[in-house]
Amino acid sequence: MSPRTGTRPARSAALRRGLATLRAHGPYVLVDRVAPRLGLRRLLVLERHTGSAAASSAYDLAGVTLRAWSCDEAALRALAELDAAGSTDPAARASRLLRYREQLARGDRPFVAERDGRPDALCWAAAGASPIAYLGCELRLRSDERYLYDAITRPDARGERLMPALYAHALAALARDGVTRAVTLVRPSNAPMLRAMARAGFSVCGSLAQLTIAGRVLHLGRPGVAYVPAV
Ligand SMILES: CC(C)(COP(=O)(O)OP(=O)(O)OC[C@H]1O[C@@H](n2cnc3c(N)ncnc32)[C@H](O)[C@@H]1OP(=O)(O)O)[C@@H](O)C(=O)NCCC(=O)NCCS
Repeated sequence: MSPRTGTRPARSAALRRGLATLRAHGPYVLVDRVAPRLGLRRLLVLERHTGSAAASSAYDLAGVTLRAWSCDEAALRALAELDAAGSTDPAARASRLLRYREQLARGDRPFVAERDGRPDALCWAAAGASPIAYLGCELRLRSDERYLYDAITRPDARGERLMPALYAHALAALARDGVTRAVTLVRPSNAPMLRAMARAGFSVCGSLAQLTIAGRVLHLGRPGVAYVPAV
């Protein structure tokens, strides 16, 4: 098969996918999806100072308990099940479980919104040096800062305000331990997360970007949080 006949169908499939994204989500999302393939990855940095954190009681969440999650093996398995919910990949649970064990070993802590004993929404809080694999860098947090990440709500519970309530709860709990500022990183095209974060009182304070060009990796942006390129 000539290279030409091999690439044409692939190109037209990519074009069709691009047009479908453009129609469904608009140009901003299309650019955000295409840019990483051209070597540009970018995340918005959002912050919230704990002193002004919205009370999680401001959300009407009947039957939901917001809390730090226990970290035994059974509890971690429940989190991996939540994270893999809706996935058809049988390896998804196992790989998430491994990742969660590593996060726990680093000292990161999970918070959950729980209903009938089952976690329906999850986020993790990290302190100190926190790797950001997507951007090939590491956040360097002050002792009074935390990085909130890996936010996920079970697919059938989305739109119920679980994540804003969970972030508000996590902030209030962290403030009791002396934390004054939390940051989180969100892809510019992730409208649901940006809306959930706005509701939890977070606002954009910068952006972090990685540009790979001719084999060279550059870190760009006005980050709003201390970071170093990963070695
Ligand atoms: C982003 C996410 C955590 C938001 O959690 P949530 O508990 O649904 O938060 P909210 O209830 O505040 O919903 C946020 C927005 O998502 C919308 N939404 C997205 N998917 C939805 C769905 N399947 N059903 C209902 N609403 C949905 C909501 O309507 C809401 O928008 P609105 O303010 O216009 O009503 C959740 O959509 C999710 O798990 N997404 C996949 C993982 C992800 O993107 N994580 C963030 C990584 S940075």
